[in-house]
Parts: sequence; C-alpha cells; structure tokens
Amino acid sequence: MKFFVDTADVSDIRSLAETGLLDGVTTNPSLIAKAGRPMVEVVKEICDITPGPVSAEVTATDYDGMMREGEYLGRIAPNVVIKLPLTEAGLRACKHMVNNGVMVNVTLCFSAAQALLAAKAGATFISPFVGRLDDIGQDGMKLIADTVQIYRNYPALKTEVLVASIRHPIHLIEAAKMGAHVATIPPAVIRTLYKHPLTDRGLESFLADWKKTGQSIL
Ligand code: E4P
Repeated sequence: MKFFVDTADVSDIRSLAETGLLDGVTTNPSLIAKAGRPMVEVVKEICDITPGPVSAEVTATDYDGMMREGEYLGRIAPNVVIKLPLTEAGLRACKHMVNNGVMVNVTLCFSAAQALLAAKAGATFISPFVGRLDDIGQDGMKLIADTVQIYRNYPALKTEVLVASIRHPIHLIEAAKMGAHVATIPPAVIRTLYKHPLTDRGLESFLADWKKTGQSIL
C-alpha cells in the first residue's frame, strides 16, 4: 500500500520524506489556506522534496476553467497530479486530461456510483472520503470496500483507490485489509502509527538491563 501525506506543510513533508516511507502528497484548497503561502510556491517546494505524485487541486468549477487551471498547475513539475472535483464538469475535464497524458486525482467522492464514473473517466486516482462520511453517520469504510470490489470486477479499470479523509489508524488498517492501493494520511495520524505502549515499555526495560551489564556495543 502506498502512503501519501495529506498536508501542505512543507516542513512536515520534509521530515516524513526523510523516513523513506512517503510515496506522495495530497493537498487541497483548505490545506493550502492553512499553510498561509502562495499555492504555486508550496506545490513547487513539495515536488522538489518528493518524486512521488503530488496532488494540486483546481478551484474552477466549470470545464474550461478546470482545463486552464489544470494546464497551469501541471507546468509546476512533472509529478503534479491535477485534482478535480467529482462533478460532471470535473469528470469531463478528467477524461480530456487523462487522454493527454496528465495524471488526475478525482476528489470529493462519497458514493460507489461516483467512484465507478471516475474510473470510467480514466482517473489515475479516486479519492473516497471516509472520515466525512463517518461524520454524518454513514459508513465510510463500506465505500472503500464497495469501490475496491467494483474495480476488481473490471480489470480494465486502472484507477487506484486513494483512501482520503482518514482520521485514525483503524481507517488505514481496514483500508489495507480491503486492498486499497493508496492512503492519504494526515501527518499526526502517520506519527501515531509508530506508537505502541508495549514498544516503549519493552525498550525501557531492555535498556535498563543493558545498563546493568556495563557493556557498550561500540
Ligand atoms: C483528500 O485528498 C483530502 O485532502 C483530505 O483527505 C480531506 O480530509 P478531511 O476530511 O480531513 O478534510
């Protein structure tokens, strides 16, 4: 499973990239707003840090505007993925961009029908939002299970399931069990993945016993 980080915070991305576990980055207009910096500058810096796919989202809502913004964003770096909303105009733009060799991440997917449409439009990635569905009392993980199953039924569909709006490690583990291709994870959730109290306790007791031996490895 590929791990993307869901942030526009360049220092977070830099430190996560140093672990060697980072496969890509997703941003959205809210994350760019939170970073408080010009979008193009941020996306360029992120693309310099990671060779993996970096999603940059259009803000136009009409087909022509999406095509113009997508072309502009795509010039930032070869690893930019154009992020388009799951609307009729968005999928039309997706089809055209993909036909021209551009990678596309279709975002704001909340139903299996939408995921099927995005795959038919040739999206490189589909981003179903699990946390936001959970927030309104629906089962976000069911959408992942349904999407993975539908795509498996039609091997000609090459779209990768990019699980988005992840709130905690259980979302990630369940998505991995279902066989989702990618997860985009907030930095804070990535850091919790390392943690287990028995790891901390075990390390503490190993080091205490080691100290008693009076030895050092080097
Ligand atoms: C996906 O690409 C989105 O940026 C993201 O996962 C949204 O997550 P949120 O629901 O936590 O805002």
